[in-house]
Amino acid sequence: MSAGTERPDEGFVQRSLAGTRFAQVRWVPETGSTNDDLLALARQGAGEQVLITDLQTTGRGRRGRVWEAPSGSGILMSILIRGRRIEDGFWSVGAVALAASEVFGEIVDSPCTLKWPNDVLLGSVGQQKKMAGILSQVVDDAVVVGIGINVNWPEDVPEEMSERGVAANQHSSDGAFLPREPLVVEILQRAMCHLADSPENLRANWKARCSTLGQQVRVERESESIIGDAVDIASDGALILDQNGVRTTHQVGDVVHLRPAKT
Ligand code: BTN
Repeated sequence: MSAGTERPDEGFVQRSLAGTRFAQVRWVPETGSTNDDLLALARQGAGEQVLITDLQTTGRGRRGRVWEAPSGSGILMSILIRGRRIEDGFWSVGAVALAASEVFGEIVDSPCTLKWPNDVLLGSVGQQKKMAGILSQVVDDAVVVGIGINVNWPEDVPEEMSERGVAANQHSSDGAFLPREPLVVEILQRAMCHLADSPENLRANWKARCSTLGQQVRVERESESIIGDAVDIASDGALILDQNGVRTTHQVGDVVHLRPAKT
């Protein structure tokens, strides 16, 4: 297992996933962006595979943002998925987010939940911070799902990092270093189960872990912000708000949890 600066045990991950749809898995020391790499391969017609790295030099976040993480501190992983219908796109991403929240939920001592569209949060309502984010990009019938997870942060983490997010080890029983390889394997195994599940079951399981539902939220888009109570997730993954008794449907945006909705 890796210990911060040691090379991760790529062989362990490959052996653990042998014979599965994600058997083709590589863990490289450094790259620009794992999403960019798999998008290029997807355009060339490559099959399903997984790419993990310790360090990205041009890591990408949603809506044109950057994703930065100190070398070896997290899981930076992209998954090339084929064969799901484009209209099921939200749920391919949701399968990975759900898997990550389940795996970390079992090893941390506070709630690990999903924030629409696909962030993974740690902490109780009102004290939640982002532990992981997902960027998905589509090429023909393929989707590249890239997840960045904060796993091991040092005690003296810079303030701007702890303002923006949280790492799993900060919520583990003794703050101890968490080996990443078994976590990667577990996330991929669970993601495979969720991808094989029916869209109805996946949606129900995703909703059960979603802390956006039941909150008053602000949906931020480039040109506007909308406030309402998050009441449901549509079958295509859209967020449904109740705005003073009127239901509105939102396909894109960043969500801010404001407070529990009045019941
Ligand atoms: C977000 O903005 O919340 C999404 C962040 C996604 C980051 C991951 S890290 C692995 C993959 N490669 C990238 O360049 N981005 C994604």
